[in-house]
Amino acid sequence: MPPPQDGVDDSAARVPLLPPPAPRRAAVRLHPLPLLIAATLAASYRLLFLAPAPSYYQSLLLSLGSNDTAAAHLHALTIRPHLAGTGANALAAAHVAATLSSHSFRTRLTSYSVLLSYPAYRSLSLSAPDRDTVLFALKQETYAGDPYEAVSAEAVPTFLAYAASGSVSAEAVYANYGRAEDFAYLAARGIDVTGKVAVARYGEVFRGDIVRNARDAGAAAAVIYSDAKDYAAGKTFPDGPWMPPTGVQVGSTFKGVGDPTTPMWASSEGCERLTIAEAMSSDDMPGIPALPVSWKDGETILQLIGGDVAPENWQGGDGAAAYRFGPGPAVLNLTYTGNETMVTIQNVISVIEGGEEPERYVILGNHRDAWTFGAVDPNSGTASLLELAQRLSELQKKGWRPRRTIILCNWDAEEYGLTGSTEWVEENRAMLTSRTVAYLNVDSAVAGHGFYASATPQLDELLKEASKQVQNPDNGTQSLYDLWMSSNSSPLIGRLGGGSSDYSAFVQHIGIPSVDMAIGSDYPVYHSLYDDFIWMEKFGDPLFQRHVAAASMWGLVALRLSDEEILPFNYSNYATELENGALGISERVQGMPVSLSPLHKSIKEFRKAVAKVDSELKALQTWKIWSPWRNNPLKVRDINDRLMMTERAFTDREGLSGRPWYKHLIYAPSLHNDYGAEVYPGIGDAIERVKKTNTSESLQSIQHEIYRVSRVINQAALVLSGGLT
Ligand SMILES: *[C@@H]1O[C@H](CO)[C@@H](O)[C@H](O)[C@H]1NC(C)=O
Ligand SMILES: *[C@@H]1O[C@H](CO)[C@@H](O)[C@H](O)[C@H]1NC(C)=O
Ligand SMILES: *[C@@H]1O[C@H](CO)[C@@H](O)[C@H](O)[C@H]1NC(C)=O
Ligand SMILES: *[C@@H]1O[C@H](CO)[C@@H](O)[C@H](O)[C@H]1NC(C)=O
Repeated sequence: MPPPQDGVDDSAARVPLLPPPAPRRAAVRLHPLPLLIAATLAASYRLLFLAPAPSYYQSLLLSLGSNDTAAAHLHALTIRPHLAGTGANALAAAHVAATLSSHSFRTRLTSYSVLLSYPAYRSLSLSAPDRDTVLFALKQETYAGDPYEAVSAEAVPTFLAYAASGSVSAEAVYANYGRAEDFAYLAARGIDVTGKVAVARYGEVFRGDIVRNARDAGAAAAVIYSDAKDYAAGKTFPDGPWMPPTGVQVGSTFKGVGDPTTPMWASSEGCERLTIAEAMSSDDMPGIPALPVSWKDGETILQLIGGDVAPENWQGGDGAAAYRFGPGPAVLNLTYTGNETMVTIQNVISVIEGGEEPERYVILGNHRDAWTFGAVDPNSGTASLLELAQRLSELQKKGWRPRRTIILCNWDAEEYGLTGSTEWVEENRAMLTSRTVAYLNVDSAVAGHGFYASATPQLDELLKEASKQVQNPDNGTQSLYDLWMSSNSSPLIGRLGGGSSDYSAFVQHIGIPSVDMAIGSDYPVYHSLYDDFIWMEKFGDPLFQRHVAAASMWGLVALRLSDEEILPFNYSNYATELENGALGISERVQGMPVSLSPLHKSIKEFRKAVAKVDSELKALQTWKIWSPWRNNPLKVRDINDRLMMTERAFTDREGLSGRPWYKHLIYAPSLHNDYGAEVYPGIGDAIERVKKTNTSESLQSIQHEIYRVSRVINQAALVLSGGLT
């Protein structure tokens, strides 16, 4: 029952001041009713109107931030490297579970047995005519005075998870960022990659795509390095934030989602499974041996690659010596043995039960497992989650109970393939699809400066409104919204088609409205030994105020979704998004004999539905202002269900052609870059196929995909407007 002026109030918002602490008494008008009824009503009025308005708890939440709490949790979580499947990560899970239980939130662990990958043997040597063979140490060095020197030995040796085992000795070829177009360029220049070791640098596409592109070009193995130009552009850690000479970005090369032995279903106990050999021969696996190396080792290799000088946008390093394509004369001997093994992972699930609509869920998620210490990725997010949990428990002590149920999730094995969140979503699919209002993801909460957000479009307005109420952690006279608007990130709000964090199963598999947020984005020591508490304290967030701002934003969005009677969803941005996506497609199919009119027609229907639901929402608001009575709860439930279920209607049972796990036909990862989000991915895939084969069948497949998308948009329009044909 929020008063109509609730929500966006800039002036009150800037400084999160506490409203008068006494519960607000809403106006209660007396009615000429028989005494008995009046007495009964009086009792209900107490229940209905004496509880403080949601805005009271929202302001209280914002006032309770504690940078010291966030710092203490981050320190505790990052005391040792804690890779998925290790004892150290089980201890970190125990820390999270104990903290949440101490607030008396109902907390449990959900475990899954899944296929993870560890290095058993690695070696890389470089030889060239008239040179001594270089045997690379493949070791990230600690520095004098490093407090984590001893525990650094527990960090997993540098490797690429799920790379194939094998030994390859062959000439090196330089492949720039390892994108499909980079290999196409090599082919066009007549440079044969077949049987060679492709040497590519990090920075443009998902590493699993780099290795896959190398494989598809015929390479026998791949080496990926971090170029100094991109990762060491200033003072290196511990003197500056940049990657030290021996720093290596470790990571997964699996292009699938979840446990590779259960590709379309949950890894429940006793479930059907592929054998490890079957899982490893999946097309989502890289299929060739590969290793990541430091910028120092990358430079050593590139200095010995000859051949023609590569173009300007292929150059890097310190610019002293030009990069060349090869192949050779440098010969790389890469030997790798992986240990692919079934291990137990643990999600922590903690529940704050809703008072009025306990069977509606607002879910907050962050992962816990890290390649090394994980101070940025992901435990800045875990520390924010635990700091937020403390604030929610303070709210409870002041009488707050969410209207809807809030679920706090701490995922495991995200780094391997979004594994913990995906298995849980698959296991609970039917319940989650019928009950979940929204999923709010925070992976790395703090990596530096600037605010970044992605969302399904019905949540855009909510994000903007909430960010106006949170203070910019770096400037007390500004809001997070001001920081966001000044960051020039383009587009301002990203979309959730990419596969880079745990929102993937929620959005792309089951169609839950979702958000992903962070303060700061790229940071040079990503996935290296140096992503530790010292880096965070020195460079990421010296006063831990950015952690507090991230938790404030996360918590405020959660509270608005859990406590407001009518869900704060706005679908008009979604219609605009669909229109813009259609424009993009029409450019790509120019000159092809395909018709976009089914798509345009469905978007028009969707616009109409948006207008209808908007006017219904307005009517409810008006009713609320003039009447002392509560909105009819069944009417409220109906409209909320339509707002909640519209996103589900964008999913299709069959999923994308050739990628059946991806059910959402509006958002999915780009085929060639798992990090890239695509609008209408099925149409995009079909256009790609036409470019490759150019047959009438492939042209028809574009038209087919256009029809499929327009069908789900029509379904979404019906759900939103709440009508049958
Ligand atoms: C593979 O990893 C598992 C789990 O860490 C370990 O128990 C096993 O000894 C390893 N095997 C090899 C060959 O390294
Ligand atoms: C490559 O290195 C491995 C050691 O890791 C060695 O066993 C193998 O003989 C080497 N291959 C060649 C062709 O030199
Ligand atoms: C803080 O924001 C104010 C108002 O936007 C601006 O004038 C000021 O320069 C900012 N201060 C810093 C330190 O950036
Ligand atoms: C928290 O913020 C206060 C005031 O800005 C600062 O003095 C303190 O050092 C911060 N705590 C941590 C752990 O950074």
